[in-house]
Amino acid sequence: MRPTDLKPPVSREKRSVLIHDRVWYVPQVPLSSNEFLFPGWSHPDLFGNDNPIHIEYCSGNGVWIAEKAIANPFVNWVAVERKFDRVRKIWAKIKNFNLTNMIVMCGEGYQATKRYIPNQSVGEISINFPDPWPKARHAKHRLIQSEFIQEMGRIIAPQGTLMFVTDDKLHSQWFIKKVATHPGFTSVYPDPYYTTDLNAYGSSFFDELWRSQGRSIYYHKFMRS
Ligand SMILES: C[S@@+](CC[C@H](N)C(=O)[O-])C[C@H]1O[C@@H](n2cnc3c(N)ncnc32)[C@H](O)[C@@H]1O
Repeated sequence: MRPTDLKPPVSREKRSVLIHDRVWYVPQVPLSSNEFLFPGWSHPDLFGNDNPIHIEYCSGNGVWIAEKAIANPFVNWVAVERKFDRVRKIWAKIKNFNLTNMIVMCGEGYQATKRYIPNQSVGEISINFPDPWPKARHAKHRLIQSEFIQEMGRIIAPQGTLMFVTDDKLHSQWFIKKVATHPGFTSVYPDPYYTTDLNAYGSSFFDELWRSQGRSIYYHKFMRS
């Protein structure tokens, strides 16, 4: 399959929420709250089993999460990506590697989570190289906001983990400050609350790019009480 083989099942104008062929479409427009009901992770259109759910936000072309899904078939993997051209690349990996334990959610991460992901239904969340929006006046565009951290706290099950990876020191500090607004998260790493040395975490397009330029990578891991 090629990425362009993914044809959306409804036109953009219709903008309905639906799950079709391993893609969960969440349009970025105000929707009435009752037009789509979450069917449950074990519904056949999603995973058809009760294996643990791991979510990656900002999946890009899906290199990191597809590798994880191949290596961990008894975990259910959810990629979240808002750009449709990248969703297509993720979808092509799902089809070409026959990843029945992976879906891709096409939509904005915070809104999609707030509307549809049930309380305490997720074991692990990873956010790998989200756009840092380095200028202060663009900070409102960052995915990491206090409201998003509250949502992470709501959907992660007790003892579940929240992983945040960036090459941007200021974004690292921003994340640490925001996650501190939630009393239920504790850093696995002591002060300064990250490590730059983590073997076997996995790689991605941006991980390779920044490493090839000699940049440090900051890994943060928080546990939900
Ligand atoms: C810098 S890229 C990183 C991609 C990938 N994680 C990697 O490491 O190669 C950031 C990605 O996050 C997506 N993204 C940014 N904000 C988002 C949001 N609020 N919801 C969903 N996806 C988002 C972008 O479309 C882009 O594909």
